[in-house]
Amino acid sequence: MDQRWILLAAASVCACSSARVGRTAKGAQPAVVRVNAAVSRPSSSAGNPFEGATYFVNPEYSNRVDAVAKAHPAEAPALHNVAKVPTAIWLDTIERAKSVSSILESAASQAGDGHTPLSVFVVYDLPNRDCSAKASAGELTSEAGGEERYRTQFIDKIAEQFAGYPNQRIVVVLEPDSLPNLATNMSVLRCAQSDGVYRRSIAYAISKLAMPHVSVYMDAAHAGWLGWDGNRAKIAKIFKEVLALSGGAQNIRGFSTNVSNFNTLSDGEGKRLGPSNPCPDELTYVSKLSASLEREGITGKQFIIDTARNGRPVRSSWGNWCNIKNAGIGERPQASPANLIDAYFWIKPPGESDGVSDSKQPRFDTACSSADSAPGAPQAGQWFETYFRELVQNANPRF
Ligand code: BGC
Repeated sequence: MDQRWILLAAASVCACSSARVGRTAKGAQPAVVRVNAAVSRPSSSAGNPFEGATYFVNPEYSNRVDAVAKAHPAEAPALHNVAKVPTAIWLDTIERAKSVSSILESAASQAGDGHTPLSVFVVYDLPNRDCSAKASAGELTSEAGGEERYRTQFIDKIAEQFAGYPNQRIVVVLEPDSLPNLATNMSVLRCAQSDGVYRRSIAYAISKLAMPHVSVYMDAAHAGWLGWDGNRAKIAKIFKEVLALSGGAQNIRGFSTNVSNFNTLSDGEGKRLGPSNPCPDELTYVSKLSASLEREGITGKQFIIDTARNGRPVRSSWGNWCNIKNAGIGERPQASPANLIDAYFWIKPPGESDGVSDSKQPRFDTACSSADSAPGAPQAGQWFETYFRELVQNANPRF
């Protein structure tokens, strides 16, 4: 493996600029500055990027929601409010990653009161993606040169585009589910085969994407997966090792949890779902995970929780994760809502499917026909309108 980038990252972490966040004056175009990727990769861990910011509202998402409102006039008032809510942008293919600059331009065009909105990107195209499930299998495999393509055609391209917008706040949620799979699913052959490629690829991504205006959050699954003491200890150790490989823990701002999941924030739903789990809800998980991380020397980290679909407790079994019926949208995106939390944010855009429910389709995962799963679901990421309307009707807080 090419060690060069690790050395560069390690050598550059002290070339830090303390400038945290740039703001573009009202109406001004963001300055386009090309940064030589090899020169500097300073820390992006200081300060909550969500604080004092407005957030990019994805017009593609709003348009889809507005179209639903048009077709269902009785629901339109609520739906028009949903259309105004910011959501994360998923970079889930090499092709999609080419659109980062145009998304950042679109964010710049939403600037008001002198603030260019913050954009949240989910970086999600790891080789052997979704190693323990099938629904979100990706385009890259380690056997077909995926590790090299991930670096050069995916991460490097995203990093170049981020570097062109140094005055915009950017948040990265990095590769949901990947390292958690290494903590608990090594008995799954594909996960065992992916251990090295996941670690190296994620370390590489961190070292490239961490910039003064880009705050990186590694994904830490959720209470119902890693809440148990032993699992938290395992993931904390993996984070420590991968962060060391990336050039140091100062490269990240913190961790994301509950991405695309349904755990409630604080009502202790897990006491029913998994009585042996000391983390019965997401806020308890964050606080205990923070302590587990500190035991590994990872201190001062903050969290983002995905509240897109966790408005109320709905599952019969904690292991169920695919298009859970009767779920409702949760808290609206907001900064610093609780201790240790940088933000609640809609990371999974409500209405996008978790996976196809028809067993005859490619990427079918049995989890998507579980007793808790809504029928008639399209492929992961595709628009699932009946499910979306249900999420809005069940929203808590209400629309
Ligand atoms: C899918 C992605 C999609 C994302 C957001 C994931 O489950 O695999 O393709 O972009 O969900 O909906």
